[in-house]
Amino acid sequence: KEYNVAIVGATGAVGEKMLGLLENASFPIKSLKLLASKRSAGKVKTFRGQELQIEETTDESFEGIDIALFSAGGGITKQFSPAAIKAGAVVIDNTSAFRMDPETPLVVPEVNPEDLRKHKGLIANPNCSTIQMVVALQPLREKFGLDRVIVSTYQAVSGAGLHALEELKAQTQAVLNGEEPVANILPCGGDKKHFPIAFNALPQIDVFSEGGYTYEEWKMINETKKIMGDNEIKVSATCVRIPVMSGHSESVYFEVDDKNVSVADIWEVLKDAPGVVLQDDTANQVYPTARESVGKNETFVGRIRKDVDVDNGFHMWVVSDNLLKGAAWNSVQIAEKMIEMGLL
Ligand code: A2P
Repeated sequence: KEYNVAIVGATGAVGEKMLGLLENASFPIKSLKLLASKRSAGKVKTFRGQELQIEETTDESFEGIDIALFSAGGGITKQFSPAAIKAGAVVIDNTSAFRMDPETPLVVPEVNPEDLRKHKGLIANPNCSTIQMVVALQPLREKFGLDRVIVSTYQAVSGAGLHALEELKAQTQAVLNGEEPVANILPCGGDKKHFPIAFNALPQIDVFSEGGYTYEEWKMINETKKIMGDNEIKVSATCVRIPVMSGHSESVYFEVDDKNVSVADIWEVLKDAPGVVLQDDTANQVYPTARESVGKNETFVGRIRKDVDVDNGFHMWVVSDNLLKGAAWNSVQIAEKMIEMGLL
């Protein structure tokens, strides 16, 4: 069977990656529709040798569509996903609009593919930082049990969209030219104040919420529990934006239930874990970096070591391309998994 696919937000940072993945993947596509805002209507992109015109997204855009990949912001998902579902499409949504909705499966194919069976027309793709962390933690949880997680992130600017990336470049140029950098977007488009990201580190991603945590931090906390299907896991997060274009890095501290686990035991599990590439050989300076992760679908893990004081505590460094596994690839992978499971 072949499928009629639509990308909503096809001109965005994530939408462009979706297009690239579908171009190369063996994904069975009958037709591809590229949707964005009115501003982009009429622009042309090539796909598998064909010229495709971008169209404005409307309620009528989804007739005959089987799979609609949304990545144009939560408001657009709320506005247009009902029409897409009504037209018979399965919506795979990269925004946070429905992630914590109890009726909506929140899926990382390596972790909880069975949740796909419960869908009612819409499947949510988790937050980029959450995805790569659970890909690394789930195989350890299955083998050793997982009690708590404390994560600090070093997140790339592309996660905030193409305009934020342009802002980083312009600010970097400005600073190098000895000028004052101008900030209009980061740390968060929806907040009042803006600070330069160039040559800086901003401890705010998304707006502040309960308990002094940002929404991004709450996303990591709540989504991890939902994906793992376990509300008992203790999770806490600090999310930081750094002036890297793509590739999120994370320092993950975790405590397993089993008190007798060694670093070698963890290597043994992660070396064959789905979607994970183990890069851990400090004697030879082998460890993952953001730059190396760009363009790859896997999650890279290294610097695994036992906590100095806590017997069942470990630290690791987890890196992945935030636009791929953190967004576009996880969405396309959900579609592939649904086909494999006979759900599409
Ligand atoms: P457009 O380029 O036409 O504005 P990013 O996350 O990189 O900022 O991308 C956001 C994506 O969401 C873009 O593809 C953008 O299209 C799309 N988008 C923004 N507003 C709308 C809208 N009203 N309808 C459909 N797509 C939209």
